[in-house]
Amino acid sequence: MAMNETSYSRRNMMRLIGGAAAAGAVAIPNLYSATTWAPNDGKKKIGMIVRSTRPEDLEMPMEGFKDDITPVERLFVRSHHYTPKVNLATWKLKIGGVVDKPVELTFEQIQKLPKVEVVAVMECAGNGRSFYQPSMAGLQWEHGAVGNVRWGGVRLSDVLKMAGVGSNGVEVLFDGADVPVGQQSDFQRSIPLTKAMTPEPLLAYELNNEPLPTSHGFPLRVVVPGWASDCWVKWLTGITVLDKPFEGFYMKTAYRAPAGPVKPGTAVDPAAMQPVTKLKPKSVITFPEHNAQVKVGETLNLRGVVWSGDGHPVTMGKISLDGGATWEDVRPITYNGPYAWRTVGFTWQPPKEGYYRIMLRAGDHTGDSQPHVQAWNPSGYGWNVAHSIGIEVVKEVAAPAPAPAETAAAPAPPASLKTTCVTCHEDNVIKQQKLSRTQWDREIDKMVRWGAKVKPEDRATILDYLSKTYPPR
Ligand code: HEC
Repeated sequence: MAMNETSYSRRNMMRLIGGAAAAGAVAIPNLYSATTWAPNDGKKKIGMIVRSTRPEDLEMPMEGFKDDITPVERLFVRSHHYTPKVNLATWKLKIGGVVDKPVELTFEQIQKLPKVEVVAVMECAGNGRSFYQPSMAGLQWEHGAVGNVRWGGVRLSDVLKMAGVGSNGVEVLFDGADVPVGQQSDFQRSIPLTKAMTPEPLLAYELNNEPLPTSHGFPLRVVVPGWASDCWVKWLTGITVLDKPFEGFYMKTAYRAPAGPVKPGTAVDPAAMQPVTKLKPKSVITFPEHNAQVKVGETLNLRGVVWSGDGHPVTMGKISLDGGATWEDVRPITYNGPYAWRTVGFTWQPPKEGYYRIMLRAGDHTGDSQPHVQAWNPSGYGWNVAHSIGIEVVKEVAAPAPAPAETAAAPAPPASLKTTCVTCHEDNVIKQQKLSRTQWDREIDKMVRWGAKVKPEDRATILDYLSKTYPPR
C-alpha cells in the first residue's frame, strides 16, 4: 500500500490528503448510489444482492449456482476497504522479509513465469452468516458469497523461490494496494510458509481467461485453492516472509473461530480461537426452489452443487427425500478438478402428494461430511450444514402467488444517524443487521475505534433507533 505504487481514485486521494483528519470526519463524496456500483472494467455485475455499496460487497443470487463456471458478472465481491485503482505502469510486486535477496517484479516479469491454471471455489469465510442463531454483526450473507472460477497466474512458490526463502521463515504475509477507511486496520493476511510452498497457491492475473477485473484485485491477487478466501488478498503489492506469526488485526482478532463447540451467543477470547483456513464439505440445492410446488408423478430433475476444501475433493453426495431418514447417491454431472464445485443431479418422480423435506449432503475422501446441526461461532464463519429445502407435491401446480405487499417502511432515522454513520459507507450495511441493544452498543464502539465521531448527545438516540429498528431475528 505504499503511495508511489498506485494511483488512487480521487476519493482516496482526498482521504489521504485529509491525512490524520481521516479520523472519521472526512467528507467522502458519495460516488455510488445504493443500487449502482463502480463499473467493473466494462463488465457490469448482473442481479447481485448489494450487501454494501462501498466498501464493495456483492452477493451472487441463487441462480448463479446454475453456472458451472461463475461468470465475472455474477461473481461475489468482498472488500474491507474501498477499491483502489492500480496503475500498471508503476505497479510492482515486492518480495521481502526473511529472504536471501528481496525482489521487485513488474507485471511483465510475472507474466513471463510459467503459467498455471486451476478451477477453484472462492468462498468467503462468512458465507451463510445470516443463518446463524443468535445473529451477529457482519455482512449478512446467505448462500452466495461463493463462486467457481478458472484462475490463471503463477505459482506463489515460484515467486518465493526467486527471492530465496530463509530457513527461519514461518509465515508469508500479503498486502494489497487498498488503504483502510478511517482508523480501520490495514487488510493484511498471512498463511503458513509450508502452505505457501506447496504447488497450489497462485498469484492470479486472470479470471476465466480474462484479465483480473478491478473488483477482483487487478492486476494480481492471491488464490489459495481449498482455503476460505479471506487470505486471497486482492490488488497485491507486497509479500513478506516472516520469522514469526503475523500479529495484525485480521489475523489476531478477525477471521478466527473456536476449535470446538461453544454455547451459542457466548463471547470467546480471540486468543482462544484459531484462524479460519480450510473450506469444509458443503452443498446447495439449486433446483427446485425452497417452497416450490411440483406436480405429483412428474419427473423432477433435482440439481445441486457440492464442494469441499484443501486437497480433499468432494467424493460423496447424498440426497434425502424424507428429511434425512433415508439417503441415496446423487449423480455427478460436472468435474473441473479437485478444487472446483461439482453440479450433481437426481431424477425423481414424487409418488404421492404431500410436503417433502429434501436434503443434500456432501463429503470428502477423508470421511469428513456436512453436519446436520451447525456449530455456532461468534463471528459466524464456516456455515456448512447439509442444505435442505421443503417442496409441496400437489395434483395441480397453483399459479404463482402475488408478490407480498410492501412491508411497512422503517421509521425515519434520526438526522444524527446520517451525519454520524452514513459517511464511510451507505446505510445498506446497517439495515441488514439484526442485533440486540448490547450488540448495537458494541457495534457503535467498534465504529468509534474506526474513526466514527459520535457526539455524546447523539449516542443514545442512535442506539435507541438502531436497536428498535433492527432487533435480533
Ligand atoms: C470512519 C468510517 C466509518 C464510520 C463513520 C462508520 N463506519 Fe461502520 N464501517 C466502516 C467500515 C470501513 C466498515 C466495513 C468493514 C469491513 O467490511 O471490513 C463498516 C461496517 C459497518 C457495519 C457492518 C458490520 C461490521 O461490523 O463490519 C455496521 C453495522 C456499521 N458499520 C455500522 C455503523 C454505525 C452504526 C455507524 C455510526 C455510529 C458507523 N458504522 C460509522 C467504517 C465506518
